[in-house]
Amino acid sequence: MQTLKVSLAERSYPIHIGTDLLSRGDLLQPHLKHKKVVVVTNTTVAPLYLERLQNTLKLLGISALPVVLADGERYKTWETLNQIFDALLGAHCERSTPLIALGGGVIGDMGGFAAACYQRGMPFIQIPTTLLAQVDSSVGGKTAINHPLGKNMIGAFYQPQLVLADISTLGSLPDRELRAGLAEVIKYGLIRDIEFFVWLEANMQLLLARDSQALAYAVHRSCANKAEVVAADERETGERALLNLGHTFGHAIETGMGYGTWLHGEAVAAGTLIATELSRRLGLLTVDEVSRVKNLFLGAGLPVRAPEMDAERYLDLMRHDKKVQDGKLRLVLLKGIGEALVSDAATESEIVVAIKACCT
Ligand code: NAD
Ligand code: GLY
Repeated sequence: MQTLKVSLAERSYPIHIGTDLLSRGDLLQPHLKHKKVVVVTNTTVAPLYLERLQNTLKLLGISALPVVLADGERYKTWETLNQIFDALLGAHCERSTPLIALGGGVIGDMGGFAAACYQRGMPFIQIPTTLLAQVDSSVGGKTAINHPLGKNMIGAFYQPQLVLADISTLGSLPDRELRAGLAEVIKYGLIRDIEFFVWLEANMQLLLARDSQALAYAVHRSCANKAEVVAADERETGERALLNLGHTFGHAIETGMGYGTWLHGEAVAAGTLIATELSRRLGLLTVDEVSRVKNLFLGAGLPVRAPEMDAERYLDLMRHDKKVQDGKLRLVLLKGIGEALVSDAATESEIVVAIKACCT
């Protein structure tokens, strides 16, 4: 097992990465001071991992109240969030009752938002079970639900007290979900870690074959990158925005196509290719660099073409992006591989040309 730290003064917390961590009561115990915890999960993850976690908690003398939600991005809504509050109130949970999110990014984001809101904040633990959640969404404290008009539009910054990334849970992940997680892994290489990008070029097949050492390395290196960025800019007033490479386009794809049609990681992959194409058109990337980026996404089995949607629809959806300032779109662009910037330099017509060049 390896441990990283997210350094945020009194809100600092560990990220433990390793195999069979669901049975490691010793890692959970320091964060569980009460006899009751709430475990928010979903109908897919519960049959796979809930009992194992409950058994671990039982050995610590802690009973777990499961809240099992419907599975899917389309359920990342007010209605589902309210089901968590109904369960918390129904079971007389207190402000000090810890809430554990056991699942992928949807469960982590919703569980975290519920924990942030319930009685103005209850202790929160992330046990991510998808690659995407282990490398990205469980770390950094962004929590949210979707709105029909935009992804993750309603939410809060609320840090967990612990992240337990059990690599063994990735064994049951569908191939498509594993690939989607790789989009966020590649992101770190592109925006700030060229050495990791080169490692990914050499080791993508091992990751797709779920080699546990390769997966553990990729999760650790991704979390190390994310922890550094979050420690430097928790509330996204600067550098943290770079973690949104491809996301402005990607969120437009997810919302425009209907939540759940394109997986988040797939939409980010296609969105990153649009950002890459735009960067090339603005003279920031060479043709060879664009090919290298494209080949890595292709090697990961991810989409490199965006879905056909009216360009004005893309722009309309993108105007809800959280980076918009004074009504102007600000995009994450690449300045070579391993370096990114936020820029409002591209005109809407340049953005439309890049989108059209990347649409199927
Ligand atoms: P997800 O949570 O929908 O999980 C993907 C699928 O895998 C689901 O069907 C889930 O039930 C299933 N699953 C989970 N663990 C499994 C396992 N071990 N074995 C088998 N099946 C399993 O999707 P995701 O890709 O994990 O997360 C995407 C979400 O994360 C999006 O809503 C996105 O907006 C959000 N996100 C948030 C942040 C953040 O910083 N908070 C960052 C990136 C993405
Ligand atoms: N996933 C983007 C962020 O955490 O800032």
